[in-house]
Amino acid sequence: MKKHKIEIQLEVFENRSELPIEIQKLMDKAQEACKNAYAPYSHFKVGAAILLGSGEITIGSNQENAAYPSGLCAERVAIFHTGALFPNEKIMAIAITASSQTQPLVEPIAPCGACRQSLSEYETKQQTPIAIYFMGETGKVAKVASVTDLLPFGFDSKYL
Ligand code: THU
Repeated sequence: MKKHKIEIQLEVFENRSELPIEIQKLMDKAQEACKNAYAPYSHFKVGAAILLGSGEITIGSNQENAAYPSGLCAERVAIFHTGALFPNEKIMAIAITASSQTQPLVEPIAPCGACRQSLSEYETKQQTPIAIYFMGETGKVAKVASVTDLLPFGFDSKYL
């Protein structure tokens, strides 16, 4: 038996004003998108904004459904929307933010496992990393340079 240690690099910015200006703008778009989330069941709104190689920004927000599993997270709405609109564009970064009606969100909110897997597909497809910036409603912003930092053992087409 051999033990393996896996390290990830996480950068933490004390607040959004420490971010590079283009990422601040991306986070602004995520915050705008968050306001348009449709979350009548959880009252937990999530917004995501994606920066493309062309400079174009696309967005997504969580869309819930009375049949709960039929709803979709903000990150997947954003990435599928981007894949459908710009199938040949490189995805450089995604910014994610959230707000809740029940408590202030002051810590970075990381994307769920299913969203990590969905984002990872596009990283594999384009063969270049996608940076992920995530925060709550206020406070610190966390950054990983690649989806593999959040999902070290993603499932991909080489297994098929
Ligand atoms: N949600 C997201 O949009 N992204 C995540 O990564 C985790 C959760 C949404 C799904 C649901 O509408 C609400 O947040 C509560 O789980």
